[in-house]
Amino acid sequence: MSAITTLPPKAVIFDAYGTLFDVHSVIAAAEQLFPTHGDALSYLWRQKQIEYTQLRTLAAPSDAPGAHYRPFWDITLDALRFAAKKIQLTLGRAAEKRLMDEYACLSAFPDAVPALRALRDAGVNATASAQSSSKKASASGEKVHRLNLAILSNGNPQMLDIAVKSAGMNGLFDHVLSVDTVRAYKPSPAAYSLGTQAFGAQPRELVFVSSNGWDVAGATWFGFTTFWLNRQNAPAEELGVAPHGTGEDMNDLLVFLQTLASPGRSSTPGSSGKSAGNRTRHSPGA
Ligand code: LAC
Repeated sequence: MSAITTLPPKAVIFDAYGTLFDVHSVIAAAEQLFPTHGDALSYLWRQKQIEYTQLRTLAAPSDAPGAHYRPFWDITLDALRFAAKKIQLTLGRAAEKRLMDEYACLSAFPDAVPALRALRDAGVNATASAQSSSKKASASGEKVHRLNLAILSNGNPQMLDIAVKSAGMNGLFDHVLSVDTVRAYKPSPAAYSLGTQAFGAQPRELVFVSSNGWDVAGATWFGFTTFWLNRQNAPAEELGVAPHGTGEDMNDLLVFLQTLASPGRSSTPGSSGKSAGNRTRHSPGA
């Protein structure tokens, strides 16, 4: 694994779907439309959506890397249609439209906007103090710098624009980067390189945050300093690569960032916050 950044980082780059936006906020509408099948439809929908992005990127010939590319919105619709068929639901036009409309304006996770605002405006300590009654991050009393923020997502630009606006995240990001530019989905290095190009930085100088284990693995292989926001308490991927930090919510991310930003820290951040279980953990690598 590459060395971790010496900090503060040049930027913190967020995955969007599943990390900032709750893809399973569609369950309520799905359950109304198809009682008792809401969960199954949502989880299969998401699984197929990711699978299709990876298939379309992987199958491309080397001399035509975007040959099988379709925008994420189209793939999302394809995946919904497949998922409904797979669990034998009849997805009429009205239900399809309702679910896609929901997808366009997914709910943000409740911790996302407050953490982003505070990172943007006041640095890590203020955010952690505002968010956590345990005041984990403020315990050290250290002040860190305002951070540049970005999204780097499989979402196509129009989708991201609507999602960012409807979640009240307008103006919080220096860049909203879509893989549409390179017509290759994560974990393609071409997708992650949008982050290094946008900030004129080496991968390790940027912190990449995702809730998706596969995305964090790809980003770590790419060379980013990575934080796995393990919102679903998922097991670690068996890929022989580990993120540099792991936690279960945005507050844990803030602790991680604060540790990176602490003057005099070693190149491998020490444990901060709770050491037990799966709160913030830092890993020297696989
Ligand atoms: C994204 C997908 C991976 O936002 O959730 O890029």
